[in-house]
Amino acid sequence: MNTTLTIAINKTSKSKLPDTNFDDLKFGQTISDHMFVADYENGTWGNFRIEAYAPLQLNPANATLHYGQSVFEGMKAYKNDAGDTLLFRADANQKRLNESAKRMCIPEVPEEIFMDGLLKLLEIDNAWIPNKPGCSLYIRPFVFATDDYLGIRPSEKYKFIIFTCPVGNYYSKPVSVKVECKYTRAAEGGTGYAKAAGNYAGSLYPALLAQKEGFDQLLWTDGKSHQHIEESGTMNVMFMINDTLITAPTTTGTILKGITRDSVLTLAREMGIKVEERFLRVAELEDALRNNSLKEAFGTGTAATIAHIAKIHVSGNDYILPEKDESAFSNRILKTLDDIKYGNVEDVHGWII
Ligand code: COI
Repeated sequence: MNTTLTIAINKTSKSKLPDTNFDDLKFGQTISDHMFVADYENGTWGNFRIEAYAPLQLNPANATLHYGQSVFEGMKAYKNDAGDTLLFRADANQKRLNESAKRMCIPEVPEEIFMDGLLKLLEIDNAWIPNKPGCSLYIRPFVFATDDYLGIRPSEKYKFIIFTCPVGNYYSKPVSVKVECKYTRAAEGGTGYAKAAGNYAGSLYPALLAQKEGFDQLLWTDGKSHQHIEESGTMNVMFMINDTLITAPTTTGTILKGITRDSVLTLAREMGIKVEERFLRVAELEDALRNNSLKEAFGTGTAATIAHIAKIHVSGNDYILPEKDESAFSNRILKTLDDIKYGNVEDVHGWII
């Protein structure tokens, strides 16, 4: 794809590729050689460059460090058998970054800057895209405030950076989750729908408490009544109850508009699966667990794609779900998604660049 943005390129003098073991990729630990950087100053984005991935120099008064004015995205690129690079639904990530940015008073990143910067980076670091099944290049675009100012107001200066990491599976096994009825991830009118840094910071403590009790993650409930399920950990969550796929709607401002979520719902509807975008009540979930009508439960997200849920803890009881191998729908949807992402089937949705 042709790019038109003028980008200064200053490549690293020492690639980390020869020292990288692609057979042992832990999520987010191996970072590729370069990053794309743009600066926002005087009301405009400029100074576009690709340079070696390296530490940033920040003043201790940097506004992001104190007030968290920062948003990010997660997306992935794949290699097909012919060695071509395939980027999945990048336009959706670019739009969502800007929806998050708007909520946090961060200037939008125009499509040309986002896409041209990304495509040039993928061209330069192409050798970092794994071509093994189950592996991909995780892409992390983010924007953060760079004013050195302790007063509270939207920053006047920002940085937009994209860096990438070759990754394998996010979860090595199906997860156990606990229904969280005390802490909350998001409230109506809040920032839950945005991919804002602080949302993730606020979720760490309740997750840590659950991990101490032996669970991998939480099933978040709503902030008002704690009576319905919202998300799971850092993912959207879906339940197959009898033959109906149920997931929370994105109308309350408390649910991230997951791109994997949307892809799964689109594909499920095309497969003729009954889909309900509505809140599942905790009591309804408990009933479905007791009478075995809950056939499958899984998280959806870019990092994990589909994370099978093996155990749900609710109201003091543990319920074991059917094995991953028996999860016909989520296995089928994962295979269908992978076939699209790795270019094994025709891209009828126009999701691939
Ligand atoms: C993603 O799935 O891309 C996420 O944002 C999860 C991340 C916090 C690891």
